[in-house]
Amino acid sequence: MSARPQDLPQRPHSRPIKRTRRLTAPQITARKGADPIVCLTAYDAPTAEILDPHCDLILVGDSVGMVVHGLPSTVGVTMEMMILHGQAVMRGSRSALVVVDLPFGSYEGTPDQAFASASRVMMETGCQAVKIESGSYAAETIAYLVERGIPVMSHVGLRPQSMHVLGGFRARGRTQVVADEILRNAAAAAEAGSFAVVVEGVSADIADRVTKAVDIPTIGIGASAGCDGQILVTPDMLGLFERVPKFVHKFGRMRDMVDEAVGAYADDVHARRFPREENLYVFKD
Ligand code: KIV
Repeated sequence: MSARPQDLPQRPHSRPIKRTRRLTAPQITARKGADPIVCLTAYDAPTAEILDPHCDLILVGDSVGMVVHGLPSTVGVTMEMMILHGQAVMRGSRSALVVVDLPFGSYEGTPDQAFASASRVMMETGCQAVKIESGSYAAETIAYLVERGIPVMSHVGLRPQSMHVLGGFRARGRTQVVADEILRNAAAAAEAGSFAVVVEGVSADIADRVTKAVDIPTIGIGASAGCDGQILVTPDMLGLFERVPKFVHKFGRMRDMVDEAVGAYADDVHARRFPREENLYVFKD
């Protein structure tokens, strides 16, 4: 017989964070070199509610395109998708800083374009900050947004929105030229006023050099335990997918749990064991 949810091993919550107010971008910046910053992605209200007591920062990542909508990359993600998922995460969370990704094509053209997109995302979702993937062109845009009241988290190393230029999702920095470019992009993003920088898909050595070089927190994904914080794509770390990138550790077995529960439901429907007595409405005269 399949396991029921009540039969599955229960793990007590690790260290739920008790906060009455939302964390702010400057509070995240102040954590440089201190207690590691816990970050995860979320795309819906119930998940955000579960993550919130454990996380300092929740990212509404454009990974939503791949892990929720089944797109082959993040390139097809739209502003409307980011706003809809951003609103849901804001409804579900209470105290984590919520950052929403600006999607491909909404910020790279000019600082004005980036401001129009970022202000729309903040006004329509209520989120506290935006994230942009930060190539060498980005410093001017970051400074422009920050001066105008928009906290910016940058993203260097493997930049998934550039996968067509990079030729896929491979880790970056195999040559000295590219490693130096990643360091330069991170330094420029910090200098321009980013409150934190995501460092994705690089060697631990490059990540550690970035962490030493910049005075804002580095948030690693496929990077190094020496970063100031860590982030993962939540469905990946929950074990929803069979195949995940090398840098993901599956902390749960969500795929198996869903499969077992749905199998048990289908068995019960076939055997007319569901609905059970306690699920039935009985009206008294
Ligand atoms: O879109 C996303 O989820 C991200 C994280 C991988 C950092 O950018």
